[in-house]
Amino acid sequence: MTKLDERYELLDLGTEGLSESLAEATQRGLTASPKELPCHLFYDERGSRLFDEITEQPEYYPAQADEEILRDRAAEIVAAAGGPLELVELGSGSSTKTAPVVDAILATQDDLVYRPIDVSRAALEWGAENLLDGRDALRVRAVCGDYAEGLARLGAGERRRLVLWLGSSIGNQTRDEAADFLRRAREALAPGDALLVGIDLRKDTETLEAAYDDSAGVTAEFNKNLLHRLRDDLGADLDPADFVHRAIYDREAGVVRIYLESRRDQVIEIDALDLEIPFEQGERIHTEDSTKYSLEEIDALAKRAGLVRERTWLDGEERFSESLLRVS
Ligand code: AVJ
Repeated sequence: MTKLDERYELLDLGTEGLSESLAEATQRGLTASPKELPCHLFYDERGSRLFDEITEQPEYYPAQADEEILRDRAAEIVAAAGGPLELVELGSGSSTKTAPVVDAILATQDDLVYRPIDVSRAALEWGAENLLDGRDALRVRAVCGDYAEGLARLGAGERRRLVLWLGSSIGNQTRDEAADFLRRAREALAPGDALLVGIDLRKDTETLEAAYDDSAGVTAEFNKNLLHRLRDDLGADLDPADFVHRAIYDREAGVVRIYLESRRDQVIEIDALDLEIPFEQGERIHTEDSTKYSLEEIDALAKRAGLVRERTWLDGEERFSESLLRVS
């Protein structure tokens, strides 16, 4: 493994404290009606580990399909984007899916600057070490922070930019939010630049609900991690076993909705907030939405954002998509 050397640079935006804290979100979300908690709270250390485990479950096809497309079609994607390129990645985590794209670019140009943007500094460093190892022509300019902020701060580039937004991260946003986000991304980029966006597709209810309620119970444990955090970080007197994980596909809306459902009437005291939260049996906390798209909806999304959908690649089973959206 290469030690991080002069080919690695980190810019810390110091935006780590910007998203709503566990205490604030709990105070607001559990006194709201219906009850809700924001999905970014899943990802403490245990939650991030559980998410990695989700991506290894056979039912969770989005991870396999995303990886498959990037592995098999990287050269085509890079050729379609048109180089020479600089590579940017939003929410890169530890860049586990990026290597095939980096290699496809390095096969067509002498050197490459890769700019991963992520809130986790540890993931950025781990990912950079892996990518830099054995790739002398690569330089990594990591940005630690919120990726909307990171994108806005990119500044002018010397080369055309290809911006990766993989893993169906877009699914956690509403359709309106996604269009807004892509519009802002377009405004931060230059004509000719492109985004490669991984988007999960609408499909049958059974496949979707299984993907979000795997038989090994990993997704249930991931969802219940919020209850662990309320108990361990805020002193809530609750038993995670008193809640059931629910994943329900609203076919009309094209959204998988994730909930924690109370098994019984109960009152939960939260010490740190000096709060008592009553639950009825069957009452739910809404914890996540995962929006699914048809190809027509991806077109409409691109248009709303002022982008042109040039090409879309699907996995062999046509469950998942990567679309190249061009700034014109
Ligand atoms: C993080 C938005 C990609 O919607 O599939 C997986 C997270 N939640 N299983 C998704 C998730 C439950 C996820 N994304």
